[in-house]
Amino acid sequence: MSGELFAEGSLSGAFKTSYSSLLPSTSSCKSTSSSGYLSKKTANPTLAVASNQPATSSKLRFAFSAASRTPEKSSNLQSIVLDFDRQVPIERASTPPSSWYTHPDLLAHEMETIFWRSWQVVGLTCQVEKPHAYFTGSLGKMQYIICRDGKGELHGFHNVCRHHASPVASGSGCTTVLQCPYHGWSYSLDGRFQKATRLAGIQNFKPHDFGLLPISIATWGPFVLLNFSLPCADLKLDHNAVDKDWLGDAHSAIESADINAELCHIATKEYLVNCNWKVFCDNYLDGGYHVPIAHKNLASGLSLASYSTQVLERVSIQSCKTDSVAGRLGQSAFYAFVYPNFMINRYGPWMDTNLVIPLETSKCLVVFHYFLDPRLVDDKEFVQQSLSESEIVQMEDVVLCEGVQKGLESPAFSKGRYAPSVETAMHHFHCLLQQDLMSTL
Ligand code: FES
Ligand SMILES: [Fe+2]
Repeated sequence: MSGELFAEGSLSGAFKTSYSSLLPSTSSCKSTSSSGYLSKKTANPTLAVASNQPATSSKLRFAFSAASRTPEKSSNLQSIVLDFDRQVPIERASTPPSSWYTHPDLLAHEMETIFWRSWQVVGLTCQVEKPHAYFTGSLGKMQYIICRDGKGELHGFHNVCRHHASPVASGSGCTTVLQCPYHGWSYSLDGRFQKATRLAGIQNFKPHDFGLLPISIATWGPFVLLNFSLPCADLKLDHNAVDKDWLGDAHSAIESADINAELCHIATKEYLVNCNWKVFCDNYLDGGYHVPIAHKNLASGLSLASYSTQVLERVSIQSCKTDSVAGRLGQSAFYAFVYPNFMINRYGPWMDTNLVIPLETSKCLVVFHYFLDPRLVDDKEFVQQSLSESEIVQMEDVVLCEGVQKGLESPAFSKGRYAPSVETAMHHFHCLLQQDLMSTL
């Protein structure tokens, strides 16, 4: 993906929201009821702010500390994580144990070691296209605000008031000031503390030190990303740098998949799925193994003999030719999985992306964004037909994933095996997980 194609704002003019009622929030600067992507249950990070520095200074550091974890808990987690051996080749390997998908402590550990340390897609640039637009959301216990200030600059902040920790904003909308709904402390959209009433008598209080705590953000194509772990010195990083940092050596392979700036955003759909987030990812990463059995309609349009999988550093790419150039699938389908939880699917005139957000040990939210060749956006019948076909596949996958979660929770199951010729991307996913999960144990 070239930086030129995906520089911030380069796509915004191409966005169409013909099906805007399906969007989590609209592309225009007006209030909606959406609260963004949300999740409630995760662990406790330690927030370390360098002393004697303004809170919004470049010296801010986050440290995700294991200090709150008891030695007993650590050792339990360690034995769970080590119950999968990434050194064993796929032909001889067992899958991770069911505890990876069911143990109540593991999700908190995943948040700390994976989700809060990586680039995460949190929304679309069209949600904050205009000055003063904002949206909020959370990833585990991390609550964030993404907003565009009056000068047009995009920012990310922790959505935690510096007075007594209330969220300062909710949902999405348009505002010139972020005023905390509790006691009214207010912040400008560049995060600076603006004013508070009834502070007479306060000592050692420097307003400059009490701005909202910043988060590193970037844009990539139509997406807004954030990274909770990057030091603030990198806050002003070149937005294009996220390409390399996020996609690694998959950069050119993804670029060659004809993902371009001309696609229009058509719809967003969300699926609440009663399974661990990794079950949904595993289902995506089985190299089409389940397609002829579980998606008979979809399978009839694919040439499954041509299915291939390529494993890169932190991305795996599956591709498949189709049986006909007509219809929503076009000539070929390209499925890129960006570790740990983002999928880019390009087929025919369509691109859809899937973001898997962990909510609880056995619950995740999957957000689908659909983009289409602009020449077809007015073909309402084709659009509806395509979305309906896609919906059928998603609902089939939801049933599969929820069934697997139940099986993983059964005492009858502990570990499975891989089909080595097709499930290489899944094995790669599990190896990356094991590596990250072990990193702080
Ligand atoms: S908690 Fe925000 S003003 Fe008091
Ligand atoms: Fe599927």
